[in-house]
Amino acid sequence: MPTPREETSSTSKAAKPAGKPEDAIKLLMNDHREVEALFKKFEAAKDDDSEKADIVAQICEALTIHAEIEEEMFYPAAREALEEKGDELVDEAEVEHESIKNLVGQLEEAEPGEDHYDARVKVLTEYVKHHVKEEEGEMFPKVRKTDLDLEQLGAEMFERKNELMADEGEDEDDAG
Ligand SMILES: [Fe+2]
Ligand SMILES: [Fe+2]
Repeated sequence: MPTPREETSSTSKAAKPAGKPEDAIKLLMNDHREVEALFKKFEAAKDDDSEKADIVAQICEALTIHAEIEEEMFYPAAREALEEKGDELVDEAEVEHESIKNLVGQLEEAEPGEDHYDARVKVLTEYVKHHVKEEEGEMFPKVRKTDLDLEQLGAEMFERKNELMADEGEDEDDAG
């Protein structure tokens, strides 16, 4: 039953940059696992405020970039590929992103120890968990059954993600 995942490496292809995922869905799922690990790290940080601030900054950056590549690239392609089933699924996902981004915005302005800081992280964790479950349990499997070229899309998303990460790095440098 399981189809071999590994493709024979063709000599015409240039070496893939490190970490380049197989396709668009793999890329997004890797991001999900990364953010889940950060949420776990936050829980483990307990009362270490500087550690918490650092982890939350990483969570906010990761979620912002992830949401951007989904909204800019993956969701429009999924909406089209899924045809009439696409609108409801993608609309819901976009509304969930609004709630997530709202909390991310609040956390970017907040410091550990402030009122509702931990509660905001907790609720964000729950929102993300729910959202990831819907994407991985419903949207992604449906998209995989369409003829959308996930490999090509994944390559474009990977490039865009690296661009966005470089921008964030520059912003941090500017801020000192
Ligand atoms: Fe996602
Ligand atoms: Fe999403």
